[in-house]
Amino acid sequence: MNKQEIILSSDLRESMEKAIAGCTYDKLFILTDTHTRQFCMPVLSQWPYLPEATEITIGAGDVHKELDTLAFVWQVLSEKGATRHSLLINLGGGMVTDLGGFAAATFKRGIAYINIPTTLLAMVDASVGGKTGINFNGLKNEVGAFCPASSVLIDTNFLRTLDRENFVSGYAEMLKHGLISEPGHWEELLAFDMEQVNYERLKTLVGKSVRIKEDIVRQDPYERGIRKALNLGHTIGHAFESLVLEENRPVLHGYAVAWGMVCELYLSVVKAGFPQEKMRRTNQFIRENYGSFLFDCKQYDRLYERMLHDKKNTAGIINFTLLNDIGEIAIDQTADKELIFETLDFYRECMGI
Ligand code: GLY
Repeated sequence: MNKQEIILSSDLRESMEKAIAGCTYDKLFILTDTHTRQFCMPVLSQWPYLPEATEITIGAGDVHKELDTLAFVWQVLSEKGATRHSLLINLGGGMVTDLGGFAAATFKRGIAYINIPTTLLAMVDASVGGKTGINFNGLKNEVGAFCPASSVLIDTNFLRTLDRENFVSGYAEMLKHGLISEPGHWEELLAFDMEQVNYERLKTLVGKSVRIKEDIVRQDPYERGIRKALNLGHTIGHAFESLVLEENRPVLHGYAVAWGMVCELYLSVVKAGFPQEKMRRTNQFIRENYGSFLFDCKQYDRLYERMLHDKKNTAGIINFTLLNDIGEIAIDQTADKELIFETLDFYRECMGI
């Protein structure tokens, strides 16, 4: 996979001009959704280069991360004369960067693209590392490609207007990066006050978080080994996410990952010797900031079914990433049904339900 340039920008206009100048292109396109068109595009539209760009706007929200929307983007690219040498800029959250990245990866077998993430989740996770795709057949990110953006331009000023729920959701991926990296970073993440956000401090933490992901992706771009570290909390988190979707009470991805981490840290204690005190402190932070997901033991079988169908599994064996300690990663771990049910019992007790 080509190297991706990731810029933590202090001057988005200058960074964008440099990134665009670094690409040879004939036509420029910019993908927004209805939110970023209204709230973020006005910041960019006065700048050189962009008046000549063709804007493509799609619906906001994960429901639009699907084939018809992708086909619409291909259609506009085709009708407006995009060639293999055209450049697409994705301005938005993870939905826009994932779908736009996949449109770019596939149109005329691949055109260059730049990500400008506008949510915390997209800044620290979705827009970085080259995973692109759409949901399909009721399954999240079922169809996609590894295809890195030429550049990812991160301007944390966009976070000043992000709603609390989306902020907290993105922060779960930062907490995950803390757990898989080193104790000092984990400590500073637990100490951060999400009610009174210090944006200068946040910028520093976002920078560290992005470097952690970048370093892992550089070692293992196609997720054959260490990149699986980034799946911490996601096996059980995805099962929670599917269950709430089926029950029509959807939650943002990061909430499900945070609750999934509560469970997978318990598994880490039981199976990998993760220190109980560190689990307790992490779980307390999650309980205080994310509340809890309510379910009862009648739903255990459905959750287990969901884990069995996780795309990270091989030959039907549920795959977990666990920790021996902060920054000490144990990939390709598994657990039997009995232990998974015990974990769900632990979650309900620990989260007070
Ligand atoms: N979001 C996990 C990864 O990029 O591998």
